Amino acid sequence: MAIDRLQKIIAQAGIASRRKAEALITAGRVKVNGVVVNELGAKADADSDTIEVDGKVIRRPKAWTYIILNKPGGVVTTASDEFDRKTVFDVLKGVDTRLFPVGRLDLDAEGLLLLTNDGELAAGLTHPAGEVPKTYRAKVKGMPTEASLDRLRAGVDLEDGPARADFVHRVESGGPKTSRENAWIELTVTEGRNHLVKRMLEAIGHPVIRLRRVAFANLDLEGLRPGQHRNLRKAELQKIKAIARTAIRKRDRRRAGEAD
Ligand code: URA
Repeated sequence: MAIDRLQKIIAQAGIASRRKAEALITAGRVKVNGVVVNELGAKADADSDTIEVDGKVIRRPKAWTYIILNKPGGVVTTASDEFDRKTVFDVLKGVDTRLFPVGRLDLDAEGLLLLTNDGELAAGLTHPAGEVPKTYRAKVKGMPTEASLDRLRAGVDLEDGPARADFVHRVESGGPKTSRENAWIELTVTEGRNHLVKRMLEAIGHPVIRLRRVAFANLDLEGLRPGQHRNLRKAELQKIKAIARTAIRKRDRRRAGEAD
């Protein structure tokens, strides 16, 4: 038995956030065992009831799966690609559960990608209010001076608003073959805007040649070569769930503030 509020079941299935799930329910778009349920207090058994959203049956995963993948370059972070390119799911051999990526990495970007079938965790970790830290190593053209790294610390103007980085520094060996024409920079950002790191480094005049995410929240890539993956360990999972819960609380407080 897995009796829960309908909005929680819908959110965990990754269909919508809890708030959007509530709106779907009150709009009469959710059915339980063929009957429209439009009351917010309603509960259902995610294992035995047939729950439909807009006529599509949602299934509760038999088990929750949380995977860290060391994404290689040249694969897209989507389930199916319109150009038929290789996806991260092609790389995840032996995983037959339907998962979704928590955030995205560009086609050419490498590194840590979390994948799960826990829609609520994914929603918490990717919401801007959560400010979940993501650390990247970027190989850039040229040698940025401390003054230009200070610009990243202070914030640079991008076309969709200012962006700043925490803990920016040059690393001596971010990867093979660091030459005088290139440098490796490590920086932490707490946003997830499209191509954010590339645009920030471009803004200080040092375009990115290679980009690798080395940490996400409490997780890192230790022991994983490109293309390899592993399940989260129990302690990692407990921590990341706490981070996602905090993010959701912050999001809800922010929304309540906006509604006042
Ligand atoms: N910033 C980027 O520019 N690309 C990524 O894939 C992730 C962060």
